[in-house]
Amino acid sequence: YSNEQQDVIKAYEWSNKLFHHVLKHTKDGKDALNYLKNRGFSDDSIEHFQLGYSPRKEQFLGAFLKGKGFELEKLVDYGLLNSRDGNSFFDRFQGRVIFPIHNHQGKVIGYGGRAIYDGDQPKYLNSPESNLFQKGKILYNFYQARKHFQKQKRVILFEGYADVIKAYQAGVPNGVATMGTSLTDTHAKILKQYVDEIIICFDGDKAGKEASFKASKILKKAGLFARIANVPNEMDPDDYYEEHGAEAFQKLINSAESYVAFSLQYIKKDYNLSVDHDRVKYIEKALDIISNVNQAVERDFYLTELEETFKLDRNTLNHEIDSRMRIMR
Ligand code: UTP
Ligand code: MN
Ligand code: MN
Ligand code: MN
Ligand code: MN
Repeated sequence: YSNEQQDVIKAYEWSNKLFHHVLKHTKDGKDALNYLKNRGFSDDSIEHFQLGYSPRKEQFLGAFLKGKGFELEKLVDYGLLNSRDGNSFFDRFQGRVIFPIHNHQGKVIGYGGRAIYDGDQPKYLNSPESNLFQKGKILYNFYQARKHFQKQKRVILFEGYADVIKAYQAGVPNGVATMGTSLTDTHAKILKQYVDEIIICFDGDKAGKEASFKASKILKKAGLFARIANVPNEMDPDDYYEEHGAEAFQKLINSAESYVAFSLQYIKKDYNLSVDHDRVKYIEKALDIISNVNQAVERDFYLTELEETFKLDRNTLNHEIDSRMRIMR
């Protein structure tokens, strides 16, 4: 780390300690602690993920870090303070629960700050991107999840902080999150060094489904096998755990379907399958997906499904697959 980066890391280390202490042991942290308890976060989770709270005071963190010898101007660059016209400074994360974001070496390099009071916008305020903190290169909780990769050989990919933490509470410690951004080739490359299989467990809403479809394509491209855990009723994994408990949560993860089955179903939304022309278009798209499957038996399985659903001639389907695979080779 450069001198400047070490200073950033120190500032986050101190502030994380302070916010964590405020949350657990002070009157200022009471609302936040109640908020987390009401949402079902355990004491163990608060500890394990080093959650904190930044009180609703303008000069709380600033005064503390000034006392530690930090320059206030610098702390603005680090994303911990804001300034008015460059001369008065105030805490950036006031009134927010702090989710520290660790880099893959375990150093805190950013925060996600969740609003807990009505009307506070945005829902999550994040540290600005910097050379240490780039969402496209960092996965939330990777540094802790990685310890489980040896035994589990797979990783569970979530959208948000709360989902990762509830997964941990449900006995699924190998979860990471994209923090709401799209999965990148860089993320995929990093994961590929540790695991072969990824279970995507995004939010059950429309946006989550679309993100699952996109992420599975990126993972496939990186040589990883993706499965999709479908959270029902537009719920978040976090809510699913709260409503159904640990056992059901694990079952949801373990019963994830192949990205192939998911994709063949998902793309149907783009076609009106009661119209001949659209049916043909869908079948062609489906053949594109199936021709990308490495295992012959698995290809055969989905082709049979296509054959039966659309009353197609198997020789034609086989021929279409062969020609697609020849182009790719
Ligand atoms: P979601 O909107 O799904 O939030 O965004 P969530 O994680 O379910 O939040 P809760 O349960 O209401 O607390 C998923 C992730 O996208 C990022 C955060 O990392 C969040 O966890 N996000 C979301 C932001 O960075 N800013 C936002 O305003 C919203
Ligand atoms: Mn502690
Ligand atoms: Mn969402
Ligand atoms: Mn949620
Ligand atoms: Mn969500």
